[in-house]
Amino acid sequence: MRVRCLVTLALVAWMTGAITARSAEDGQAFEQIERGRYLAVVGDCIACHTAPGGKPFAGGAALETPFGTLLGPNITPDVATGLGNWSEEDFWRTLHEGIGKNGVRLYPAMPYPAYTKVTREDASAIWAYLRTLEAVRNEVRPNQLEFPFNLRRPATSTWDLINFRPSVFRPDPTKSETWNRGAYLVEGLGHCGTCHTPKNITGGDQDRQALQGALLQDWYAPDVTPDLRTGIGSWSAEEIVRYLKTGANSFDIASGPMAEVVENSTSHMTDADLIAIATYLKDSAPRNAAAVTALSAEDRRMVAGRAIYEDRCTPCHDSVGAGVSTLFPRLANAPLVQATDPTSLIRVVLIGSRAGATAAAPTAPAMPAFGWNLGDQEIADVLTYVRNAWGNAAQPVQPADVAKLRGRLQRNAAGGG
Ligand code: HEC
Ligand code: HEC
Ligand code: HEC
Repeated sequence: MRVRCLVTLALVAWMTGAITARSAEDGQAFEQIERGRYLAVVGDCIACHTAPGGKPFAGGAALETPFGTLLGPNITPDVATGLGNWSEEDFWRTLHEGIGKNGVRLYPAMPYPAYTKVTREDASAIWAYLRTLEAVRNEVRPNQLEFPFNLRRPATSTWDLINFRPSVFRPDPTKSETWNRGAYLVEGLGHCGTCHTPKNITGGDQDRQALQGALLQDWYAPDVTPDLRTGIGSWSAEEIVRYLKTGANSFDIASGPMAEVVENSTSHMTDADLIAIATYLKDSAPRNAAAVTALSAEDRRMVAGRAIYEDRCTPCHDSVGAGVSTLFPRLANAPLVQATDPTSLIRVVLIGSRAGATAAAPTAPAMPAFGWNLGDQEIADVLTYVRNAWGNAAQPVQPADVAKLRGRLQRNAAGGG
């Protein structure tokens, strides 16, 4: 309560320009809370801890895992159903070690394997901010997993033994301050690897392939290393910043889970932090994807795919795949189009997609759905063509993969999940 009063006072003082009248102590508290608010945005805590249409941070957002559904808990200061009785130390253990209420091991759906890199000082600021939130009474039972994962949790999990070691970020003294800030954000609070790093069979990060692209639930989070073909090696730092700030640049437009990341998180980051992220991504280890030879233009699939492309796709993507900057993504020389795993591409053609809207790019263009008027073979052919035309080169798309995803998306739509 006291802290919240201080914040309100500080805000009013700030807004009326009476900032000089504030005592130094209030100023410090205000600064820490404001920094914590910003860091919570960088960490995108709201995404998993807010139900659709619910009160911010009051929990209830459903997260699909391969083992069933987990709900993000209530992290407002409510005593009965939130973190009202928590100390800062409890919170530090959650972020740093993945330990939750009553000392239970959390599932790594809470990205503590990344948040463990966060410094104590930054964790304290996030905690100070969380204490200023409205206490919302909202009972959430996070564990909706299927048997046997719904059983009581063991004190130490085998998963952690294999995949997790608490460790705060250590700067690399051979790199610039900007690079290190970028590494801290990408590996830590930004938890970019949660989606972009390939996983081992237990779901842990394959650190040696950091950021090289991974399959989520029916989306592919592409390679964001500087590999020239499958990664973002041809994007300048400015283009990366533009993508993260607005969700679109002259190469691509963010859709699906990345559109949400941009809307909730990266579009609110400072330019300095976005430049740091771009600097780090441009200078991370490239994937060096195995070379692939493009299919010949005479290949049966290429001929069929080209006819469909010219009929249905050229109005927006252009006959040579050039797209229209920030409106229709470029398909020629586009990393996502040549990604090893074509799941996102199949998905976008089957059910369409609307790019996320941001303050900087408020009207989001849409990709129409073709699933209702193109068959599995046709979608496979048009994507095989797109992946092997205009200098692109990638494995052909199989009709069976289209059929599989089509079935899964239909089941999801029918089951509402
Ligand atoms: C990708 C989704 C996701 C993001 C992002 C996320 N969380 Fe979580 N968080 C979860 C889930 C799921 C759980 C519950 C896990 C479990 O029950 O094992 C959890 C648990 C917690 C807990 C423990 C609560 C309790 O009742 O035990 C705290 C505290 C917490 N998160 C804080 C945060 C903060 C702060 C951030 C941002 C820096 C954040 N989370 C970002 C998914 C997320
Ligand atoms: C919740 C999962 C998720 C998280 C977290 C995430 N991404 Fe993504 N990202 C994706 C997906 C999925 C795509 C593909 C989007 C599309 O198909 O338009 C993507 C696309 C991108 C692209 C464009 C690549 C291309 O070839 O078009 C960049 C750059 C990127 N992400 C950077 C980041 C950075 C930096 C972070 C951390 C701050 C991050 N992402 C966090 C899921 C995620
Ligand atoms: C009416 C305009 C329009 C037409 C016609 C159209 N698209 Fe798109 N396409 C878009 C827009 C807009 C996006 C970006 C959507 C997003 O980011 O959510 C997009 C995205 C894509 C993507 C994802 C690319 C990436 O890097 O994110 C692929 C692949 C694609 N379209 C292929 C096709 C194919 C193949 C056809 C023809 C069968 C087609 N499109 C027809 C507008 C169109």
